Amino acid sequence: MTADELDKRQAIIDACRRMNALGINQGTSGNISVRHVDGLLVTPTSVPYETMTADQIVFMAMDGAHAPDRKPSSEWRFHRDILKSRPDVNAVVHAHPTYCTILAIMGMEIPPVHYMIAAAGGDSIRCAPYATFGTAELSEHAVRALEGRLACLLDHHGMIAIGKTLDKAMWLAVEVETLARQYHGCLQIGRPSLLPSDEIERVRQRMAGYGLSEG
Ligand code: 13P
Repeated sequence: MTADELDKRQAIIDACRRMNALGINQGTSGNISVRHVDGLLVTPTSVPYETMTADQIVFMAMDGAHAPDRKPSSEWRFHRDILKSRPDVNAVVHAHPTYCTILAIMGMEIPPVHYMIAAAGGDSIRCAPYATFGTAELSEHAVRALEGRLACLLDHHGMIAIGKTLDKAMWLAVEVETLARQYHGCLQIGRPSLLPSDEIERVRQRMAGYGLSEG
């Protein structure tokens, strides 16, 4: 194994543990992947993050092939399909953060209640329709909901954040949960006013200069 591959495997484990420390994930319900050579490195299914080791991270080719003694995340399909269809993206983070999941259970998208939504690439964070976890159908819904975007909710399930690097995808995952929490809080008081699309576009351009560039 090259030093680069080992670094990526360790970075995935560190990010998994960070998800739990940050409270954006519970137990082993989240999963992470990073593009590697002509495939991807993806977390194993149902392995607690505290005990996960670098050799348990699964290398998968873009056709889904992997070593027979390795068990990739049950959500490997959307990890593979997102990385395959989005050359602009190198990392995928999936978790069930509480506020994102509350909105997703209600089938709601996140509208432009705060300018930071621009960090997710547009003026909303869409909610992909429900499909059973691990299915090709869920993967298709997720890829569509992410078109032109860097995050989406999954109906009755959770959230996906993607990025050019794992650090950026992780940062966005935390930011999306913050937006979901803010929107949820607003809905306790009333119906929040929304920022217009042209303002979100202006923010998107400003963010590129600020260091919060997309990806
Ligand atoms: P793993 O299969 O990656 O453990 O996760 C389950 C899950 O998150 C289903 O959405």
